[in-house]
This record gives sequence, C-alpha cells and structure tokens, in this order.
Amino acid sequence: PEAVKPIMNSTVTPVDAAIETVSDGPLFPSTLISPEVLSLLPTDYTIRPMRRSDYHRGYLDVLRVLTTVGDITEEAWNQRYDWITSRNDEYYMLVVCDGADRVVGTGSLIVERKFIHSLGMVGHIEDIAVEKNQQGKKLGLRIIQALDYVAAQVGCYKSILDCSEVNEGFYVKCGFKRAGLEMAHYY
Ligand code: ACO
Repeated sequence: PEAVKPIMNSTVTPVDAAIETVSDGPLFPSTLISPEVLSLLPTDYTIRPMRRSDYHRGYLDVLRVLTTVGDITEEAWNQRYDWITSRNDEYYMLVVCDGADRVVGTGSLIVERKFIHSLGMVGHIEDIAVEKNQQGKKLGLRIIQALDYVAAQVGCYKSILDCSEVNEGFYVKCGFKRAGLEMAHYY
C-alpha cells in the first residue's frame, strides 16, 4: 500500500511553528519602547522587546559579531529564555528587525537593585551588536537610546557599561562618558 504522507504545509516557516507551539509574547511590555526612537528608525525597521521566536530570526548570528556564541540548540535557547522571562523586571533585552523581519541588532539592559542611594537601581548595558552589513545606519545609537529610555522608565538613576577602546567613540556619541576602570577575574 502507498505510504501515508505526512500533511505538510509548506508555507509554515520555523518562526510560525515556534509561535504556534508556545506563547511568543514580548519579553517585557512594549510600552517601554521609546516612541521617539521608533520614529527615528529607517523605514520598515522596528525595535521591540525580544521574543522567544527570535531564535529563528537570527538573534544568535547577530551576537556573533560581538564574540563567540557556541552552538545553542533551540531547546537550550528556550530554557534560557524561560529563565530570563521569569526575571523580566530585571532583564530587558531588545532587538532591531529589518523590513524582512530579520533580527539585525540587539542590546540588553540588566537592572540591579541596590541598598545604597536609597535603594537605588543601576542599569547595566550589555551585549550591544549590530549585524556587520547594517552597521553605520545609526541602529547602534537607537539601541542605546531605547535601553536608556527603559532604564529611566523603570527608575534607574544611571546606566553603566564596559567596552573596548575602539568603541569609546561610539558610546561618547551615545552620551556616555568615561568613568572608572574595568577589571576582570576570569574563572
Ligand atoms: N568609534 C567611534 N565612533 C563610532 C564607532 C566607533 N567604533 N562606531 C560607530 N561610531 C559613530 C558613528 O560614526 C556614528 O556617528 P555620527 O552620528 O557622527 O554619524 C555614531 O557613532 C552612531 O553609530 P551607529 O551607526 O549607531 O553605529 P552602529 O549601528 O554601527 O553600531 C556598534 C555600533 C554597536 C559598536 C557596532 O559597530 C557593532 O555591533 N560592533 C561589533 C560589536 C561590538 O563591538 N559591540 C559593542 C560591545 S560593548 C557592549 O556591548 C557594552
């Protein structure tokens, strides 16, 4: 007898499939995305909170312009994404997507709760990356402006970051100034 063929809908992309199987809402409320930054993006580009399905939109490839990422399976991604989701008043990760809905830029803000400065909160800006052929379009600047907006909205009194000397000029253009010295202890 003729083998039963699985019913395949060729129009279902991996992104659609991921959206169908689990909740794929924004990591944090979209109201925390600066309307002004949105209005300044190139036509058809958007900036939004990260979503679980960004695994299929090239999120990790964008991070590869920054450093080594490793081979991360979708299962491992989902586990980490769920952990981050459970702390979504602390981890604010956003993406820039182009007109084809590909992730072309990323950035993260981690909000630290302190005792000092009357229970002050400090934003840590981490892992800023713009795909190589999309650099120079002010997307990096927009990512920083969007993270600054989130930090101010959630109540941080400052944001800080570490970078190499080659990126100092970029962050100066984003309004940051050199303060202190980074030290590291690797394990
Ligand atoms: N040095 C000096 N000025 C710079 C640099 C630089 N390395 N990069 C950009 N600029 C300037 C631009 O010329 C522009 O100036 P203008 O307003 O006078 O035209 C301004 O900064 C804004 O530049 P963007 O177009 O927004 O920069 P881009 O989108 O290319 O993003 C980024 C910059 C994020 C550094 C990008 O080049 C990148 O992804 N690099 C590789 C990864 C990386 O190093 N990330 C930062 C790590 S540090 C951290 O994550 C905290």
